[in-house]
Amino acid sequence: MNQNNLPKHISIIMDGNGRWAKIRGLKRTDGHKKGANKVREITEHCAKIGIKYLTLYAFSTENWSRPKLEVDFLIKLLNKYLKEEIKTLQKNNIKFRVIGDMSKFSKKLQETINQTIEQTKSNTGLTQILALNYGSQDEILRAMQKMKDNNLEISKENLEQNLDTQDVPYVDMMIRTSGEMRLSNFLLWQCAYAEFFFTQTLWPDFSDQELELMIDQYQNRERRFGGI
Ligand code: IPE
Ligand code: IPE
Ligand code: MG
Repeated sequence: MNQNNLPKHISIIMDGNGRWAKIRGLKRTDGHKKGANKVREITEHCAKIGIKYLTLYAFSTENWSRPKLEVDFLIKLLNKYLKEEIKTLQKNNIKFRVIGDMSKFSKKLQETINQTIEQTKSNTGLTQILALNYGSQDEILRAMQKMKDNNLEISKENLEQNLDTQDVPYVDMMIRTSGEMRLSNFLLWQCAYAEFFFTQTLWPDFSDQELELMIDQYQNRERRFGGI
């Protein structure tokens, strides 16, 4: 892996768990289980190659509209993931963070989330950011409400300091698996100048190798930021 010009911030829309399960005659929830293991694998790999921020879309503000059984399963899976993950995070010097509106989750889950944040806050390697009950429009509205409550003037700086991604650099690479080519309400503000990567690969089949190929392409793209 070429260490020059590595993206600082990679974000991934981890899509296609349901289809992965369906084509194998399995339940959608089996796809989610497989997807959670992939989160661990890709996170460890990003830490190893020196990425600073990895933001993963795990549950959107719109995903509550899924059948209750699936939503309950996803929340249970998240709980399990957090409890098992702490070892991997510590071993790889990874700092854990979340974006989204946590107030919709049970007190117990919020506690587990806060404990994971607290226990990894001194880690200095990769920052893994899970987007949970996250929607970009919701995030921007919450930020605007906070600005209003604190009598802050409207400015780019004030808005960015009140987004959930406070102090996180803009997204360099936005990846979406499963062939869909849309943002689905993910990091609209933060992707202003992101480079986009779409793959047909379903999330449970995504791999370190494919990620590295994308990073390689990223390193060969010219980013102009409006200049010439
Ligand atoms: C992405 O996989 C995971 C979540 C949204 C939680 P999907 O569940 O959206 O899988 P598809 O798109 O139905 O295949
Ligand atoms: C986006 O995937 C949300 C997550 C990956 C968590 P969806 O599967 O919910 O998005 P749409 O409905 O296809 O746009
Ligand atoms: Mg989907």
